[in-house]
Amino acid sequence: MKTLAALILLTLSSTALAAEGSAEAGKVVFKKCTACHNAEQATNKVGPHLDGVVGRPAAALADYTNYSDAMKEEGAKGLTWDEATLATYLAGPKKMIPKTRMAFSGLKSEQDIADVIAYLKSVKAQ
Ligand code: HEC
Repeated sequence: MKTLAALILLTLSSTALAAEGSAEAGKVVFKKCTACHNAEQATNKVGPHLDGVVGRPAAALADYTNYSDAMKEEGAKGLTWDEATLATYLAGPKKMIPKTRMAFSGLKSEQDIADVIAYLKSVKAQ
């Protein structure tokens, strides 16, 4: 029983940890993305701008004309960028969407992923 309780506690606390990101740390992680993405301005680069991306459907920007067919299909099927889908995409863009045009191998650290998502949430609607 004790072991079970400890296991449950451990699971609960690691879930809570994984969900908590620091926007400040995420701004530093985002330097890996700035060659292709703006987040604080709604201006596209090689990649679509990420201002307000949390809660936005995939491939939703009308003024970004370089979405892959794969991304447009995901958007049409209902993919929305929330914490869970962003975490999966950022861990391995091509694992989630094999034909995505995003030439980025992925973030290795779960903490970096949580942080960068916290940062993206923090720039929303600014
Ligand atoms: C080498 C350029 C490049 C880098 C680096 C890059 N991206 Fe991208 N990103 C793209 C391109 C191009 C697309 C469009 C992909 C498609 O249509 O398949 C994209 C798409 C996205 C999308 C989907 C946006 C939408 O409107 O559906 C998100 C979210 C995203 N990138 C986040 C990031 C984050 C966060 C990083 C850094 C950890 C990053 N990207 C690094 C080029 C890049």
